[in-house]
Amino acid sequence: MDELVAAARAAANGAYAPYSDFRVGAALRFADGAIVTGSNVENASYGLSLCAETIAVAKAMGEGRWGGLVEIAVAGNGASPLTPCGRCRQVLHELAALGGTDPLVHCCGPGEVRQVRLSELLPAAFGPGSLA
Ligand code: THU
Repeated sequence: MDELVAAARAAANGAYAPYSDFRVGAALRFADGAIVTGSNVENASYGLSLCAETIAVAKAMGEGRWGGLVEIAVAGNGASPLTPCGRCRQVLHELAALGGTDPLVHCCGPGEVRQVRLSELLPAAFGPGSLA
């Protein structure tokens, strides 16, 4: 857990967030132990900004990781533990659902880290199976 949280905190330092100054890092742990990170990438056209979790999922899936997501850590430079935004919950759910996992999410604040399951953050989720 410590390694994953440290990876998310380190990723936040690499964020490109000149407009909000809110730097976010996400770290995904897979069943084989691999960790894939992402940081938020903002845009001068503000609405085009990409969240850290979405970047991490895109990196992982682009490397062929379609499933096996067992743990997630998210960290920001705010005052309280960061919980993923609604869109990111949906994006994370897609990857988790592909492998049939319900990852534990470590929501990191400056001091405390709170744990919650992805299914608690996004109950009754729409996912790949919903299209059948
Ligand atoms: N942000 C994330 O990267 N992840 C979240 O779950 C919440 C918000 C980013 C988007 C934007 O660049 C900045 O934080 C402020 O909203």
